[in-house]
Amino acid sequence: MIWKERIDRSNLPTHVAIIMDGNGRWAQERGYNRIYGHQHGVDSVREATEAAAELGIKYLTLYAFSTENWNRPSEEVEALMELLVDTIEKETPTLNKNNVRLRAIGDLARLPRMTKEKFERCMEETSGNTGLNLVLAISYSSRWEITAAVRQIAAEVLSGSLSPEQINEQVVAEHLNTKDIPDPDLLIRTSGEQRISNFLLWQMAYSELFFTDVNWPDFRKEQFYNAIYSYQHRERRYGKTSEQITRFHR
Ligand code: FPP
Repeated sequence: MIWKERIDRSNLPTHVAIIMDGNGRWAQERGYNRIYGHQHGVDSVREATEAAAELGIKYLTLYAFSTENWNRPSEEVEALMELLVDTIEKETPTLNKNNVRLRAIGDLARLPRMTKEKFERCMEETSGNTGLNLVLAISYSSRWEITAAVRQIAAEVLSGSLSPEQINEQVVAEHLNTKDIPDPDLLIRTSGEQRISNFLLWQMAYSELFFTDVNWPDFRKEQFYNAIYSYQHRERRYGKTSEQITRFHR
């Protein structure tokens, strides 16, 4: 099946988020260590980014490193950090050539100083690009993000710049890392796991979920197109009835 040809270009998701899972299992199945799987995962990052940019999708968020990933063995954490920053540095000219803006969400303050500085430099170098926004979630977890937002809102209430009555959904959303990023329309998770794993919990209230058994290092453009095609055949109701939605679109 050629999924790309079946995609309706007038009904693309604005924001696709991906939980890139299965690198470790992919490597172990082949008798290699987990880091080998992450290294191969970089090719899939390139494929997904290219596919999103070619289709004209505006936001692609990749869960590259979670808050919980800090608890992995230190060799794996170090290898992941190095791989992330090396890849980003190497790919920055290509991102610029393709008008891709690199952004990040997460607790970047926890990153080693050099890693953080290199990231910030790459983000700065692509900040003028207006095509795809490639958002990397690094040292990110949704509960961390929501907790930080609550702390900031509490501080504003204490200082008198905000009253408790003024706190609504918009105020909460504006205190999240994603304040200027629309909510994901579609979440893809690879490797057969069907969980959200502390990723964009607030933002995914109405996202469509797509799970595939393919491990992340085997994820190619065709799988991305397949997910978009599947998304386009869902009915997004946002709590309304099917009749209301059909009438709205007529
Ligand atoms: C999950 O697989 C994957 C990760 C924790 C890391 C993803 C990172 C990359 C692909 C590196 C490059 C990224 C960019 C953006 C340049 P897992 O290790 O949890 O696999 P398992 O569930 O099989 O153990």
